[in-house]
This record gives sequence, structure tokens and C-alpha cells, in this order.
Amino acid sequence: MSGRIVILTGAGISAESGLGTFRDKDGLWTRYDIRDVATPEGFARDPKFVLEFYAARRGNGANAEPNPAHYALAKLEQEHAGDVLVVTQNIDKLHERAGSVNVLHMHGIMDGDLCNNCGHRGPTGDALTTASVCPACGTKGQMRPDVVWFGEMPYHMDEIERALAKCDTFVSIGTSGEVYPAAGFVAMAREAGAHTVELNLEPSSGDFMFEERRYGPASEVVPTWVEDVIR
Ligand code: APR
Repeated sequence: MSGRIVILTGAGISAESGLGTFRDKDGLWTRYDIRDVATPEGFARDPKFVLEFYAARRGNGANAEPNPAHYALAKLEQEHAGDVLVVTQNIDKLHERAGSVNVLHMHGIMDGDLCNNCGHRGPTGDALTTASVCPACGTKGQMRPDVVWFGEMPYHMDEIERALAKCDTFVSIGTSGEVYPAAGFVAMAREAGAHTVELNLEPSSGDFMFEERRYGPASEVVPTWVEDVIR
């Protein structure tokens, strides 16, 4: 296969690295209310609770290791003749730790800090608390994880849409297809005439949009698909 490949990943690609998903039977959103921990209103209502929620996720993330699916995508980027772009909804850095370079985090990153007051973004220093002070504007109690919450605009959308408009293959891995704008990427890729592939544990809610579909654990299905592509 030649040409430009855009790959969308979701929580399912990191499930076998020990990081939970959101909407599976024991997913994060079965244990927490999105409105409490993943909205600006939730942060305004109880910043301590939100910061503790993300501190726990940072802890899990620090102990997680990339799995064969992450390594397979890094190998694809290294060996495929055309461009390979990974657009991830995940806030872990497992793609980068597996060797992927061309990665866009459309929902932000777990180990980044953002000031709710001035927009300053920077690497995480000490664990964020309600006493944390923004190093740029000096405001106290407005530091939050640099992740995109519901109701906020995902990052890198212009770059992502440009890539989708000219891609030859679009692959969706480990995502339920429940959250927009990511769930709409397959339609944009089809519009561009791209070959569309779904690699997932089970059919997503948008499975009918994909020409090629392979189901099973990402650690098995993704390396097999990559070997077929770079052969
Ligand atoms: N291998 C492949 N796919 C898997 C695996 C696995 N081992 N385990 C689970 N999956 C699949 C599930 O079948 C499901 O389709 O991964 C998908 C996970 O779906 P969600 O839990 O909805 O996660 P995701 O699609 O990434 O959610 C999108 O929603 O809450 C927001 O910001 C959050 O980025 C997240 C976004």
C-alpha cells in the first residue's frame, strides 16, 4: 500500500497496556459522571475533586507500557513509504514511548498543565492542587490538566482536517465512535476517496462506514494489519 495514512486511535489501543477505556462495561464513565470530572463546569464546581481524578489517571499512566499495537504503528511510520499521522484521542504518551513521532493529541495530554485564567501551557511540575499558582500570570487555583473537556474545542483540528482531506487510507483503532468530532473523521476520509479501515475489539457505532473491518484485541489485530500494509 502506498500513500498517506491517517490513523485515529482511542482508549482501546491502550486497554492492553492496563489503561481503562471509557464506555466498556467497567469503563471510567461507568464509575464517574462526565459532568463532574470532564467539563469546565465540573472543575469550577469542585476543582479539588477534578484534580484528584486526573492525579489518579496520571499515576496509572506513569506505570503503563506501550503494547504491540503502539509499537506496530511506530514501525509503520518508520517503514511505510508515505506519510503516517497518528491522531489520538488518548491523553497518555504511549504512542511516543513506542517510537511514533508524527502524533497529534486532539484531547490534550495527561502530563501537561494548563492555566484556566491565561491559557499558559507547560509540562507538569508538582502534582496540581487548588493551591497551584500559574507560572505565567500568577493566578492561584486555576491550574488544570491540559486535557480537552466536553464542550471545549479539541486541539489541532485544522491540521487534522487538512490531513483527512488528502489521505489515501484512514484507520480507526480502539474507539467506540461515540464522540465527535473524532467520530466524524471517517466520513471526511470517505469524502476524500480514502480506503477506510476499522481495527477494534468489536464493531463500533460507525462500523458500517468502514470498507475494511478487523476485530480482536489491538495487540493482535494492529500488528497483523501493519504487516499486511508494509509487505
Ligand atoms: N483492543 C481493541 N479495541 C478495544 C480493546 C482492545 N483490547 N478494548 C476495548 N476496545 C474498544 C472498545 O470496543 C470500544 O469500541 O475500544 C473502544 C473504547 O471506546 P471508549 O471507551 O468510548 O473510548 P474512546 O472511543 O477512546 O472515547 C473517545 O470520549 O470520553 C471521551 O475524551 C474521552 O477520548 C475519549 C473519547
